[in-house]
Amino acid sequence: GEVAEIRDHHNELRIRMEQADNGRRMNLVVRVFDGGIGLRYEWPEEGDLGTFEIVDELTEFRLTDNPTTWYIRSQEENRYEYLYERMPLSRTPPLTHTPLTMAFGNEDAGEGGPYVALHEAALVDYAAMSLERIGRTALKAHLTPWSTGVAVYAEAPHHSPWRMILIGDEAGDLVTNYTMLNLNEPNALGDVSWAEPGKYIGIWWGMHLGIWSWGQGPNHGATTENTRRYIDFAAEHGFDGVLVEGWNTGWDGDWTANGDVFSFTEPYPDFDLDGLAAYAREKGTRLMGHHETSGSAPNYEPQMEDAYALMNRLGVRAIKSGYVDWSMNYPRRHGPGVAEGETVYEWNTGQFMVRHYQRSVEAAARHQISLNIHEAIKDTGLRRTYPNLMTRESARGQEYNAWSAGNGPDHVPTLVFTRMLASPMDFTPGIFNLAGTADRTINVPTTLAGQLALYVVLYSPLQMAADLPENYAPHMDAFQFIKDVPADWADTRVLEAKIGDYVTIARRDRHSEDWYLGAKNDASPRTVDVPLSFLDADRTYTATLYRDAADADYRTRTAAYEIETRAVTSADQLTIPLAPGGGLAVRFAAQ
Ligand code: NOJ
Repeated sequence: GEVAEIRDHHNELRIRMEQADNGRRMNLVVRVFDGGIGLRYEWPEEGDLGTFEIVDELTEFRLTDNPTTWYIRSQEENRYEYLYERMPLSRTPPLTHTPLTMAFGNEDAGEGGPYVALHEAALVDYAAMSLERIGRTALKAHLTPWSTGVAVYAEAPHHSPWRMILIGDEAGDLVTNYTMLNLNEPNALGDVSWAEPGKYIGIWWGMHLGIWSWGQGPNHGATTENTRRYIDFAAEHGFDGVLVEGWNTGWDGDWTANGDVFSFTEPYPDFDLDGLAAYAREKGTRLMGHHETSGSAPNYEPQMEDAYALMNRLGVRAIKSGYVDWSMNYPRRHGPGVAEGETVYEWNTGQFMVRHYQRSVEAAARHQISLNIHEAIKDTGLRRTYPNLMTRESARGQEYNAWSAGNGPDHVPTLVFTRMLASPMDFTPGIFNLAGTADRTINVPTTLAGQLALYVVLYSPLQMAADLPENYAPHMDAFQFIKDVPADWADTRVLEAKIGDYVTIARRDRHSEDWYLGAKNDASPRTVDVPLSFLDADRTYTATLYRDAADADYRTRTAAYEIETRAVTSADQLTIPLAPGGGLAVRFAAQ
């Protein structure tokens, strides 16, 4: 996690309601914490409801004022993979995703507080909530419907997820607000010592750059030879896992539309699955599994048990799964409204897929497998109950810097206060060849120091070093930071923040007294200026600073960085300039 301990301190009010004419019952439960509110609806067993259908939810959030709001639209083609926009609430689109983040003060004057975020906690067997703007500054819960038009099929006893409001004076207070985890159930899996945070490399970025293919052919990335080279690199540099995409049959042709032909147990002939798994174990690392489903739950679900059992037998501890499909195109072949032999299509955020993700997490747990789900439903804190649900994508990650116009330097300083409020993210940081391939213009709009900062700024207990080994080779001095930085923390502090402009975060390692700092800014140069008072007052630290060189710039001199070492204490101030699109990464090694 981000912190070693979280205190659950709240008051609860439970209002029991009964409908006079038919005895139906419903409870409204409200929990109030210092930094947030949760409310949910319960349908108790004794209410005589039996099975029932929810067609709408009337929860409303009526905001005073017209706060500055950061949002992405809901029910768009690419799920959650959009750049965040900023508007007064009254000008936001009709339907937005949560977390939805708002500033009630004068944001431009640097006095944006109080900050509020709306989201939900513990989304289980229900439809995801989007927010529908029903007035100038009023929002209503919108439940993603099934193709039948029903939002939720339920049987009493049942309850809704928590509708959650986070509140803080500073933007950073939202980041270190753990109300959502408190609103989730405790660990349901018992001993989860097998669910290990760690760092991984992978046969991945090469596909996104177009150098390799997932499918078979002369450029197939997932070959035995290639994978051995990656295993050697992982072993030499202490990585816990090697992700290999394109190892299994089903990728040939347009894999994005071929969800029904993937096998999750059959390797391609040029990939020696058993031999490579054994080789990785011999070298002290592990393969990381990869299951791209192209959104086909009907193809994946019947294979899940066997596929997870196979991975467990091979010593694999984590699987990255993927659900590439348009957001309303997730096939379903059984259940309400489906005739024999028919396929209907569901939203990625509806109850059907919520149930699927849940089944996958529980099945993976039975085989001691952790998951890193791409194109997943947004998180709502379920990682507390299912600690093997390590991380997910569910946002616009680094891959967009390989094949689109890119994410823009303000993306990360916005993500921290929006998407990241929901959960850890497998953003896949650590691109060192920021120009991409030779025939490209600059695609990764940060400096190299800015890429290092992401390891601290964007929390993920599975953290990738996403670039190709050959791109790390010329910068082994900077690569040292990726080797050192942990993926699991004892403490987290947001030191400076302006949503969309900059963010500086310090975190303490869970397994040592070392602290790490990451600062990321947008296109405007600025100076990090923070007291080091978070450090232990009794110690001296050796600070290794990975900083932008004086002429670094995300548009031109991306790889211009300097590494500096100095002794510091908690009484010191850190004052370091950041380049346009730049960043700063610091390790404070306790002496
Ligand atoms: C989309 C994922 O986000 C990406 O990381 C992966 O490489 C492709 N799907 C293929 O599975």
